[in-house]
Amino acid sequence: MTNKKGYRVAVVGATGAVGQNILKYLEEKPFDIEKIKLFSSKRSAGKKIEVSGEEITVEEAAEDVFDGIDIAFFSAGGAVTEKLAPAAVKSGAIVIDNTSFYRMDKDVPLIVPEVNEEDLKNHKGIIANPNCSTIQMVVALKPIQEKYGLNRVIVSTYQAVSGAGLAAEEELKTQAEQFLNGEEMEANILPAGADKKHYPIAFNALPQIDLFEENGYTKEEMKMINETKKIMNEPNLQVAATCVRLPVFSSHSESLFVETNTADVSIEELKETISAAEGIILEDDPNTQTYPTPLSAQDKKGVYVGRIRKDLDDNKGFHMWVVADNLVKGAAWNTVQIAQSLVKNNLV
Ligand SMILES: NC(=O)c1ccc[n+]([C@@H]2O[C@H](COP(=O)([O-])OP(=O)(O)OC[C@H]3O[C@@H](n4cnc5c(N)ncnc54)[C@H](OP(=O)(O)O)[C@@H]3O)[C@@H](O)[C@H]2O)c1
Repeated sequence: MTNKKGYRVAVVGATGAVGQNILKYLEEKPFDIEKIKLFSSKRSAGKKIEVSGEEITVEEAAEDVFDGIDIAFFSAGGAVTEKLAPAAVKSGAIVIDNTSFYRMDKDVPLIVPEVNEEDLKNHKGIIANPNCSTIQMVVALKPIQEKYGLNRVIVSTYQAVSGAGLAAEEELKTQAEQFLNGEEMEANILPAGADKKHYPIAFNALPQIDLFEENGYTKEEMKMINETKKIMNEPNLQVAATCVRLPVFSSHSESLFVETNTADVSIEELKETISAAEGIILEDDPNTQTYPTPLSAQDKKGVYVGRIRKDLDDNKGFHMWVVADNLVKGAAWNTVQIAQSLVKNNLV
């Protein structure tokens, strides 16, 4: 295949939190785009969205809309991916999917370009974008894996409400107003729209993201565990996760304990290794209280790392704090980077 000019792109879920961010990064012209088509459910069909100065009418997504499309970004939920992604591939498009539907399918590469871009060459028409909390963690782990080897990772997350979609963001705003007005907070969405009970997120912390599985972990935790092993090509890596939702609008934070295969690595060397890695910005200086926060990482494309310190008992272990905007590197930007890699490597 040769590098052609002018790719035709579709965004399914264009009116949603992730879709809106995908459009923002497509406006930066990450590769040569000839045409953009926008799709949603019936609810938003007919709505007009401006992209790069051009008003585009949103159409209802259906099996027969992908003719002539080269790259189709999907972020409209697993059910829409299940129904429409095969039709898009049949029409000749390459699908880059943001939902969890295909992530663990052995025929579908799960890609974070800084970590496993080479796995893209095995694609059969569908490429999966990992879970937001997984993406930022594997970017931070990659330089450590390469230089020192990885044995074990234990992560606790502090996740933003935007990870649960626009409706969850609205719920946090409403609840915050209700709380400050002395009213009872109404909870309808979090911790998981599909679960029986709902708890207020405003001024709270919910140790449940998505539904529980039989082993006592949530689906979000199991995504982090399984996706990390797949992306890092380390099926035997020991990974444990506790995922917590906080009343933060954007950017997920993570506290990581990492055990390497190499003893007595100095903190100075480790910081150098991490700061030299692609996609990572080191913000780490206790003397000046320098470390990343959800607000400082908001709307940025990078993965921010700070608070690197040695474990006091394990000479192969250390701790760090990893922050990234879940809608940017955790979703839309990584998705657009995948498309960029496909174009760069003549895979589309
Ligand atoms: N938010 C994150 O941090 C994040 C990160 C990674 C992956 N994801 C995944 O990306 C997907 C979208 O998340 P989001 O946060 O953007 O959700 P969202 O804000 O609720 O947006 C959902 C989008 O999907 C469209 N949609 C819903 N049902 C549809 C249907 N039957 N046919 C066609 N389009 C339909 C909606 O269109 P209407 O306007 O017509 O309703 C809207 O454009 C989810 O699967 C989510 O798990 C989210």
